[in-house]
Amino acid sequence: MWTTSEIAIPSNPLDFIIGQDEAVSFARIAAKQRRNLLLVGPPGTGKSLIAQALAHLLPRPLQEVSVLHNPSTPEKPILEVRSQEQIASEAKTFHEGKIVSLTQVPFQVLERLGFKCKRCGLTSDVNASVCPDCGADKYKKETTLLDEFTFRFDAPIKLEKTVHTTIQKNGREERAAFERSDDGKIFLYDGEALAKIEKERQRKPRKILLSLERKTFVQATSASETELLGDVKHDPYGGHPKIGLQPFECIVPGAVHEAHEGVLFIDELSTLGRLQKFILTAMQDKQFPITGKNASSTGASVRVDSVPCDFILVGAINTAEVPSLLPALRSRITGNGYEVLLKATMPENKQNKEKLVQFIAQEIRKDGKIPHADKQAVEKIISEAKNRAKQIDDKNGYTLRLRELSGLVKLAGDLAVSEEANAIQAKHVEQALERSKTIEEQATEQYGSLWKTQASDYSTKKRKNSTDVV
Ligand SMILES: Nc1ncnc2c1ncn2[C@@H]1O[C@H](COP(=O)(O)OP(=O)(O)OP(=O)(O)O)[C@@H](O)[C@H]1O
Ligand SMILES: [Mg+2]
Repeated sequence: MWTTSEIAIPSNPLDFIIGQDEAVSFARIAAKQRRNLLLVGPPGTGKSLIAQALAHLLPRPLQEVSVLHNPSTPEKPILEVRSQEQIASEAKTFHEGKIVSLTQVPFQVLERLGFKCKRCGLTSDVNASVCPDCGADKYKKETTLLDEFTFRFDAPIKLEKTVHTTIQKNGREERAAFERSDDGKIFLYDGEALAKIEKERQRKPRKILLSLERKTFVQATSASETELLGDVKHDPYGGHPKIGLQPFECIVPGAVHEAHEGVLFIDELSTLGRLQKFILTAMQDKQFPITGKNASSTGASVRVDSVPCDFILVGAINTAEVPSLLPALRSRITGNGYEVLLKATMPENKQNKEKLVQFIAQEIRKDGKIPHADKQAVEKIISEAKNRAKQIDDKNGYTLRLRELSGLVKLAGDLAVSEEANAIQAKHVEQALERSKTIEEQATEQYGSLWKTQASDYSTKKRKNSTDVV
C-alpha cells in the first residue's frame, strides 16, 4: 500500500518551503549578499521558516567577542574581538611551549620535576618515587617542623610541575620555565613565551559574550529592551573584590549582538514600537553599546562601547501591520534588501499538487508521533487545501496557509493513533475536519452566524440582569 513514507524529503531546509518560490529566491540572495529581508504575509505561510532557512545558508561565525576586566576602570570593561586563528595561536603559546629532551634540561630542574635521583643522579621515569638504582626517595616530602618533631613520615610529597629558572639563549641569559606534562614530557617556555602568557593573564579574566559556536539564527521574541539590546546584571555585593562580581562578569549581550554575523529575526516587527529606532541605529552602525538599563542597579554605571552587531535583519509582519512600521526602518531594510509579499494560495496544477504531497510527508516526519498517510487521505487533505483557498482567500488553487493545514494533518494522525491504525486514512481526515472547525464555523452551524451567537449571549445576560434587579 502506498503511503507518504515513500516521499523523499529534501535535505536543504530551503527546499522544505513550498509555494513561496519568490521569497525563497530572495532569501538565497539575502544570505549570499548579506541583505535584509522584510517578509509580509498572512499567518502560517512560512515567514519564520524562510528566516530560519536563510540563517542555515550562512557560513559559521568568524569572530568571537569577549569582555575583559579593565584594571584601571572596571566599569568600562575592555572589548576584544578575536578570529579563530588568533584564538588558536594564543592557545598554542599558552598551552604548548616547546617540547625538550631530558638532556636539554638542567639537572636541578630534572630533580625538582621528579625525573632525577638527588643521591646518585640517575634519570628515571617520573612515576617512580624511589630511585631504581640506589633506592633513595626521588620526591621531596613536604614536611613541617611539627611533622619532624612528631616523626610523621607520611607527609605529602611535593612534586613540582613547573620550575622557573633561567636559560642561555643567543649568548644571553633569559628567564624560562620548564613544565612537566601529565604524560611525562617536558615543555620549555622561553622568555618570549612567558611574556605572552603574562600578557594574556593580565588581560584575563574574560567573559565570552559571543562564542564561535553560536547559532546564526536569533529570534527577538518580545518587545523587551534588555533582551534586544543587552544589559548589565545587578550584583547584590556591588563589585566587592572578594565576594562580588566584577563589572565585566555582569555584561549580558542582547539579541542584536547575538545575531552578529547571523540573522536577527523579528516577528511582528511593528509591535516593537519605540524599540524599532534602536534596531535602526544598530543596523546603521553595525555596533551597539551594552549598558545597564536599570538606573537603581549596580550595572547602571557599566558600559561597553562598540559591541559588534553586524546582522541580517529579517522582519516578518502581517499585511495589515505594514502601515505601523517605522518608515525609516522600512526604508533601511529595503535600501539594503528586499520586501516580499508571501502568497496565500498557489495555482492548481500537477507540480503544486506534488509539492503539497511533499508538505504532508514532511509534516508527518517532523511530528514523529503519527503514522504516514495513505493515498485517499492525501487526496482528502489536498481537496481541503482547495476548499480553503476558495473559502478564505476566494481563489481557485491550493491554500498556502499551511500551519492550519499542518494542524489538520496532525489531528487526523492523532485520530489514526487512537484507533491504532497504521496509516492515516480518509475517514481520519474527515473526522479531523469535523473536529477542527473554528468557533465561527461552529457558531454558523448552530446559530446561523457568529453575530447571532453574540446576540444570544447578550440577551441571556440582559435576562440575568433583569432577574437580578427583581
Ligand atoms: N511555505 C511553507 N512550506 C512548508 N511548510 C510551511 C510553509 N508555510 C508554513 N508551513 C508550515 O507551517 C508552520 C508554521 O510556519 P511559519 O511559522 O513559518 O509561519 P509564519 O508565516 O511565520 O506564521 P506567523 O505569521 O503566524 O508567525 C511551519 O512550521 C510549517 O510546518
Ligand atoms: Mg512566524
